[in-house]
Amino acid sequence: MDNFISKENITSLSGEIIIPPDKSMSHRAIIFGALTKGKVKISNLSLGQDCLNTLKIFEQLGVKVEFLSKRDLILDSSNGFKTGDFTFDCGNSGTTTRLLAGLFSWQNFNSKLIGDKSLSKRPMKRIIEPLSLMGAEIKSNENKLPLEIKGKDLSGIEYFSKIASAQVKSAILLAGLGAKNKTRTYEPTLSRNHSEIMLEYLGAKITSGKDEKGYFAQIEKSNLTPKDIEIVGDISSAAFFMVMGAIVPNSSILIKNVGINPTRDGIIEVFKQSEIDFEILNEKYVSNELCADIKVNYTPNIKPFEIKGDIIPRLIDEIPILAVLATQAQGQSTVSNAQDLRNKESDRIKTIVDALLSLDVDIKEKEDGFIINGKKEFDKEVELETHLDHRLAMSYFVMSLINKKPMKIKGFDCINTSFPEFLDLAKQIGYGE
Ligand code: S3P
Repeated sequence: MDNFISKENITSLSGEIIIPPDKSMSHRAIIFGALTKGKVKISNLSLGQDCLNTLKIFEQLGVKVEFLSKRDLILDSSNGFKTGDFTFDCGNSGTTTRLLAGLFSWQNFNSKLIGDKSLSKRPMKRIIEPLSLMGAEIKSNENKLPLEIKGKDLSGIEYFSKIASAQVKSAILLAGLGAKNKTRTYEPTLSRNHSEIMLEYLGAKITSGKDEKGYFAQIEKSNLTPKDIEIVGDISSAAFFMVMGAIVPNSSILIKNVGINPTRDGIIEVFKQSEIDFEILNEKYVSNELCADIKVNYTPNIKPFEIKGDIIPRLIDEIPILAVLATQAQGQSTVSNAQDLRNKESDRIKTIVDALLSLDVDIKEKEDGFIINGKKEFDKEVELETHLDHRLAMSYFVMSLINKKPMKIKGFDCINTSFPEFLDLAKQIGYGE
């Protein structure tokens, strides 16, 4: 289904859902698992297209993949990687591209990384620059895809990234894993630390922390030990259901098994600021990642929120859906310091502002975010473009739940990038009954 026409008269959504596995952790489980030169069981792997693209690339390299059930598999890298010249299709996935550029910079093969229209527009200088300083040989199309990488011997560096980006940090750590000497990378605020957690779990020589120069992660050349990895649910996917629960009248949704790693839990802080009626239950650690169940109830008096500074990397992917939340808050909400949103699968500041303007929301675009005045009733028939951006498509869907008129979402298929189960879960809590 390429276009999606929303259903009218949604009265309430209730029940429980299990949120599908985290995309960031799934990429890392495949990549680090494939480096163990052994057999690794990965339980609960994301079936989103982005992660399947990463998996396919390692299959091209000779890693054996045996599915035991829908989301559980054995990754067998006992024979190492093949050599030769490869072209790898990263599809829509920035994480695949940037992390693998770091790894492939020191392998015994040459690779060309290509991607779809959205990925081909995204900036790669952020990884080409540090990797080149380590000795990598990467040709690009003016710092965009395709990337042509020749495997080289790398040396460790100390690097200061201007942006807080887990993709940049992880690309450097993956390069550092094969480089001589130590590699230390700094970032201005802490971005998601799944690479650090999983690399440590698999026995890499890695440390991380904060000193007078900023947040750092440091790695030395290491061998990884094969170990089973279980992946928890994706808070960035849960975010859509959290907002549905809060804004659709009379709803109550229990969202189970959500990863709430403190570098990803910014939305929980926003929910507190907005005085949403919610609870966190059953906290536990799975493969060293914190997870919990989150119950969200309809909240008629949502307070506006302000997000800026250090919290931004902790909720970077949730900003489009938080914009939808802001339309239902009583008062003015603002988002600042989020300029890197313009470099995501679409220019997410522009796409969400345009979509909300078409619904007559009082929203003002800023270079680094936006200002929204709630509380807005949606009562207009509109057609919205997703621009190959899965998170926009799902944010539009949530907008449609409170729109009195039908909405057409063009290119809705792109939700498969991260969350192919999305509509089934929405039906499970009463959508379209
Ligand atoms: C990701 C890091 C973030 C995030 C992306 C996934 C990751 O990107 O937006 O969806 O898995 O490392 P940046 O590191 O570019 O901020």
